[in-house]
Amino acid sequence: SEEEMDRRIQQAKKVLGSKLVILGHHYQRDEVVRYCDHRGDSLKLSQLAAQAKDAEFIVFCGVHFMAETADILGAPEQKVILPDLDAGCPMADMAELEDVERCWNQITAQYQAEFVPVTYVNSTAEVKAFCGRHGGLTCTSSNALKILKTLFNEGKHVLFLPDEHLGRNTAIQLGLEEEDMFQWQRENWDIELPKVAPQIILWDGYCGVHQRFTPAHVDYVRSQYPGITVIVHPECSHAVVEKSDLSGSTDFIIRQITAAPAGSVWAVGTEINLVSRLAKENPDKTVICLNENVCLCVMMSRISQPHLLWVLENLQQGKVVNQISVKPEIAKDAVVALERMLELSK
Ligand code: 13P
Ligand code: SF4
Repeated sequence: SEEEMDRRIQQAKKVLGSKLVILGHHYQRDEVVRYCDHRGDSLKLSQLAAQAKDAEFIVFCGVHFMAETADILGAPEQKVILPDLDAGCPMADMAELEDVERCWNQITAQYQAEFVPVTYVNSTAEVKAFCGRHGGLTCTSSNALKILKTLFNEGKHVLFLPDEHLGRNTAIQLGLEEEDMFQWQRENWDIELPKVAPQIILWDGYCGVHQRFTPAHVDYVRSQYPGITVIVHPECSHAVVEKSDLSGSTDFIIRQITAAPAGSVWAVGTEINLVSRLAKENPDKTVICLNENVCLCVMMSRISQPHLLWVLENLQQGKVVNQISVKPEIAKDAVVALERMLELSK
């Protein structure tokens, strides 16, 4: 039963004590999030993983790339555990190293301008390593604006991986126009780059969960709730972001709604576990999902109470299961890309 599992998880946490840190992303289910020592957005979780050097085990309640990031940033002997190995972010798999290299070769063969590869952390360790090797770095939805601004001010051009929407939304925020951007297409082998180097080349990855929000949803909630504030994640298309009032990372969304006055009404364009929790934690406000047809990240949801119990009881018995371990030859370049980001995010 749930109570029995709860008792055993609490017991395992007690026995493991300070050897264990449990980190959880905001999209985790309530049944999991309540056991996390810390929760956060992708940036905060990577900062926490970099700081948790004393813990022997980091149990990461999130998706595969987040656990990889924690492994890359953690201490060498530390072990990172993902309670369900099938929890992978499909967007991360939309940029395969081989395809990225093909694009990069075309860019470097054609332009004199200095390009830098920037990858959203929702990417494989291989792609992060590629960025590290080529003078680039990672970013999250919390710091994409700061990072692209810094690079553009230095006169650099950017290949942005893998999320087309975060790339475009951020570029537009920085004043770029359509003609300053070029949309790469993985499947199109004959694709030609424009003659003049675009300021940013956007990969064609996307998040299937955030892609389900449309401008029509924004129109609909505005017609139903006059005065509503619409807040969305920048993984939504630009058409949605443009019609919304605010956009930002999951931490940003939480901060805005928590600080809002009682009685205010919010439509939130992000994953449903977070939206439902915000509604519950803000009973004096109205918080609804921008798309009433549930936008669930099934990958984040794979981590469940039984999975967590299973990995913790194994640890209690001295067995490490579901360890995520990035090969040292990849980690050594990926860490460069991640540390450049952490430095710029201070
Ligand atoms: P943030 O929590 O960094 O906003 O990212 C959202 C997300 O989709 C993570 O996969
Ligand atoms: Fe990946 Fe989207 Fe799920 Fe985030 S919400 S983990 S980007 S599929």
